[in-house]
Amino acid sequence: MRLKYSIIICFICTIIYSQNKNFEPGKQWKDTDGVHINAHGGGILFVDGVYYWYGEHKTEGKSGNTSLVGFSCYSSKDLYNWKNEGIVLKAEENPNSEITKGCIMERPKVIFNKKMSKYILWFHLELKDQGYNAAKAAVAISDSPKGPFKFYKSYRPNKGVWPIGFKNENKIASADESKLKSWTPEWLTAVDNGMLVRRDFEKGQMSRDMTVYVDDNNKAYLIHSSEDNLTLHISELTDDYLDFTEKWTRMAPAGHNEAPAVFKKNGIYYMITSGCTGWDPNEARSFSANSVLGPWKSLGNPCVGEDAALTFHSQSTYIFPIQGKKEQFIFMADRWKPENPIDGSYIWLPIKFANEKPILKWAEKWNLNAFAEKL
Ligand code: DGJ
Repeated sequence: MRLKYSIIICFICTIIYSQNKNFEPGKQWKDTDGVHINAHGGGILFVDGVYYWYGEHKTEGKSGNTSLVGFSCYSSKDLYNWKNEGIVLKAEENPNSEITKGCIMERPKVIFNKKMSKYILWFHLELKDQGYNAAKAAVAISDSPKGPFKFYKSYRPNKGVWPIGFKNENKIASADESKLKSWTPEWLTAVDNGMLVRRDFEKGQMSRDMTVYVDDNNKAYLIHSSEDNLTLHISELTDDYLDFTEKWTRMAPAGHNEAPAVFKKNGIYYMITSGCTGWDPNEARSFSANSVLGPWKSLGNPCVGEDAALTFHSQSTYIFPIQGKKEQFIFMADRWKPENPIDGSYIWLPIKFANEKPILKWAEKWNLNAFAEKL
């Protein structure tokens, strides 16, 4: 009898001690099975008391950044401890499928459509063996936050539609603009004036790094790196969240922003992005706006302290509010490991504010009480 009790107590102690009670950015983050979480470029959705973390399931070795498995999902009630819920959108065996194994599927973001009562997953899709040239946004649907999601469609957004307020004189290309040398002042002006919007007008605008944002009025937006990653586009989604209305704007033309993450605090929209240096980290940028469609004002690098110029060796992926707390947000980023992508780790940090600007400060170890601490 005594032995039986000791075993039970031992078992309970093991569970209690193996539980995470803090965030430890950049360290191995073990799920409830003791395995490093495999959900890169992720996004979070909160449903009925449970947070769901969706991400890219990476594999070992150099090819581990292509999609050989699909998107994974983890669930948690406390944000520290995550249970593996498996693969929710599988890379398919069928070589004719757009999401066939070996394609590139990145940055999954799941939102809930109240009207249809469906979970909608948007992601960045690159077709197999085409590098990053397809530059598509793709969407999948499920009845449950735990999936399975069914691939629905891929898009080059805003085919044949000019952005809001696009000047008539910018709708026609000048004869010599395609000959301009990249990064010269003339070329930057031409990009600003919509040279690449005109180039992609017929086939649809590019969509690489992306996020989705659902506003308080349930309108949803895809925010995507377009125009060869030079300009972000903000495209309103239809009421079912499966297509685009014809409403879209450009943000920071020629500003070279990737990895957008959006949140709203006290009625103001904020965005954190990165520059474009492949898998290598660079300096984050931040912006604010009174409307999600812009205009957006630049607020500079939100990171402070050591390694602020490299976003603490990471790249933004998502920002989410803590449920039940007023205006508390967590910044999620990836520390990529292109030589063995499965080893990539996660940088989660609390977003603080100073002078109406978001501030990110490194913390070796932190928990949700950190929001109460002063900067
Ligand atoms: C940086 C992006 O943010 C990642 O999602 C990925 O697309 C890499 N570039 C590929 O180099």
